Amino acid sequence: MGLYKLKKINGGKVLIYNNMKIKVLIDEKKLRRRVRELGQEITRDYEDRNPVLVSVLRGSFIFVADICREIKIPVTFDFMAVSSYGNSKASSGIVRITKDLEFSIENKEVIIIEDIVDSGRTLNYLIKNLQARNPKNIEVCALLDKDVPRKTENKVKYKGFDIPNKFVVGYGLDFEEKYRNFPFIGYIENEQ
Ligand code: IMP
Ligand code: MG
Repeated sequence: MGLYKLKKINGGKVLIYNNMKIKVLIDEKKLRRRVRELGQEITRDYEDRNPVLVSVLRGSFIFVADICREIKIPVTFDFMAVSSYGNSKASSGIVRITKDLEFSIENKEVIIIEDIVDSGRTLNYLIKNLQARNPKNIEVCALLDKDVPRKTENKVKYKGFDIPNKFVVGYGLDFEEKYRNFPFIGYIENEQ
């Protein structure tokens, strides 16, 4: 089966594996630079405060691991897992908590760490759900914001990148649980 191979094609980078081609949209260097900036912003905004980073599993596990090391104030962590019913490339809007937080967030300053906002339904559900637990405040940090028409306002305060309306994988994001370990964000050009 072999290894993943990264090739330069027409100025862009492409990961090749057997017959599969994944085009690099945001490479490692760009991710690292932007994640550092976001961490610095959060550090500045939350000085003398102790926010709790609520990481939404599984997609944000790499992002939260990287960004937390760029945040130079004390933070605590909690994790939540949600699943949205639907086919593999689109959420249905029905969100279910499959793993809840371990700790109370009452009176806490919460920063939700999300991988990507697509329709925004998962995020809306999460905010509503967490708001009901009476935190002091909630802000959202999302690595990617997909360019899709949405009816609801954008609630992301700390945003990594705007991306086109494509299904992306890597850096924590999956397609049918695969490709999360790519160090870059890319999209599938052809499927086998
Ligand atoms: P939303 O509820 O439509 O905003 O979808 C949010 C969730 O769907 C994200 O947290 C991801 O887990 C998943 N998702 C949405 N778009 C993508 C994508 O392009 N690649 C991988 N997962 C995605
Ligand atoms: Mg997913």
